[in-house]
Amino acid sequence: MVRAMTADNLRSAFGGESQAHMRYRIWGATAKKEGFENVSKLFMATSDAEQIHATLHFNALKDVEGDFPVTSMAGFGLSETSKNLQGAINGEVFEYTEMYPAYISVAEMQGEEEAIKAYRFAIEAEKVHAKRFQEAKDAVDQGKDLEVSGGIYLCPVCGYIGLDPDEEACPLCGAKRAVFIEY
Ligand SMILES: [Fe+2]
Ligand SMILES: [Fe+2]
Repeated sequence: MVRAMTADNLRSAFGGESQAHMRYRIWGATAKKEGFENVSKLFMATSDAEQIHATLHFNALKDVEGDFPVTSMAGFGLSETSKNLQGAINGEVFEYTEMYPAYISVAEMQGEEEAIKAYRFAIEAEKVHAKRFQEAKDAVDQGKDLEVSGGIYLCPVCGYIGLDPDEEACPLCGAKRAVFIEY
């Protein structure tokens, strides 16, 4: 049984990642409609990464019951891709600078090892997500699609998103390129 405060935090992290998963699918569809094919793929790959994080939090929670907190979607416009990318960057930065560090502190005080591992995994991947979205926004703000030479790929173990075709293993968790999923 996970202790009370960490259980709330895991539930909240599960909810946040689940929403990010769906939000990125919606924004990916918008990017595609606006002609940004690679930005759309980046959104879809990152959407799947957030599903991996949501699954880790869900598994660490074990005793799921009751309602999950629903956060307001206000402020997340569904209009243009540049704005959506800024929303994506803001969400990722919030997660790795404020949300997960706070959750890790609580889990450390409570000795919740599995929760700490799930948060740490997510924190490193979210930093990469923010970086990729920033690269995409820089391109879109110049009216261009994200430049991709070697495909967009996802590490299905930790949620890392890579663009480098020469990357032989995941720099975050060490998983081999053979397991990467390409978009
Ligand atoms: Fe992320
Ligand atoms: Fe990985």
